[in-house]
Amino acid sequence: MARILVTRVLPDGGLDPLVAAGHEIVQRRDDTPYGTEGLIAAVADVDAVVCLLTDRIDKAVLAAGAEGRLRVVANVAVGYDNIDVAAAGALGIAVCNTPGVLDETTADLAFLLILAASRLGSEAERDVRSGAWTGWGIRQYLGRDVHGAVLGLVGYGRIGAAVARRAAGFSMTVLHHTRHDTGLPGFTASLDALLGQSDIVSLHVPLNKASRHLIGARELALMGPDAVLVNTARGPVVDEQALATALHAGTIFGAGLDVYEAEPAIHPRLLDAPRTVLLPHIGSATQSTRAKMAQMACGAVCAVLDGERPANLVTA
Ligand code: DGY
Repeated sequence: MARILVTRVLPDGGLDPLVAAGHEIVQRRDDTPYGTEGLIAAVADVDAVVCLLTDRIDKAVLAAGAEGRLRVVANVAVGYDNIDVAAAGALGIAVCNTPGVLDETTADLAFLLILAASRLGSEAERDVRSGAWTGWGIRQYLGRDVHGAVLGLVGYGRIGAAVARRAAGFSMTVLHHTRHDTGLPGFTASLDALLGQSDIVSLHVPLNKASRHLIGARELALMGPDAVLVNTARGPVVDEQALATALHAGTIFGAGLDVYEAEPAIHPRLLDAPRTVLLPHIGSATQSTRAKMAQMACGAVCAVLDGERPANLVTA
């Protein structure tokens, strides 16, 4: 039996693999976040950590675990930019994530943002709720058509491909840009060309050095005043200051955002930006998907502790 630190309360059923394996679960009943100092103290006498993307698992946390008996960190998320994977690898600590199980759910949300941002869903609803809507008008809330539009996907992994499948139902032309040629129809080698040709751009890249501020003032200018930007990937992929400026100036039509540069803080100029839909990082937030993610992370912990190599291992 191993001791497993689970940093937050997980969705119902999420702990099942740990319980079935008979492991001891260390968890705060009140669900307060550990913070860096709390994590450093807590990892000292556990074999594994199941954490969330809001937990920063940095070098100091990993080193404290390595001084004890920490063998594996499993992130209940597909993105793992909150974990210093290089440090974990160097310390012999395995890192796992939750690929696959959230693809369709996240693609659903990306499509929600594509539709809501293009059709001005947020501001129209706000007006209805506030009483500002005084009746139908032929020039009100004039959005951009989604059907038949050109959708540019930046990143074409499982989630990007799932968005492309949905776009087919809306008769959209789908382009995609990745660093390596996919050899698939719609591949566009130049990001600039994709931005220039797309009516709607949806981001599906992981956050790393190459993708930080991939979309800044220059890229937004390439998209032009009729374009819509959707981000369900990671906030820092977009320069929020530049996006807010473009939205206020009308040099981009609209934006649909589920992720932010410094969550939960949101750039104040985005909060009052026109034609903008803002969601609180809920891409994978359905009961069934979040339970599957938690089970996958816990299952990976069990596998590593059993000496197996799980398919969702991020470290070499
Ligand atoms: C992830 O998994 O990386 C998402 O951001 C949350 O589901």
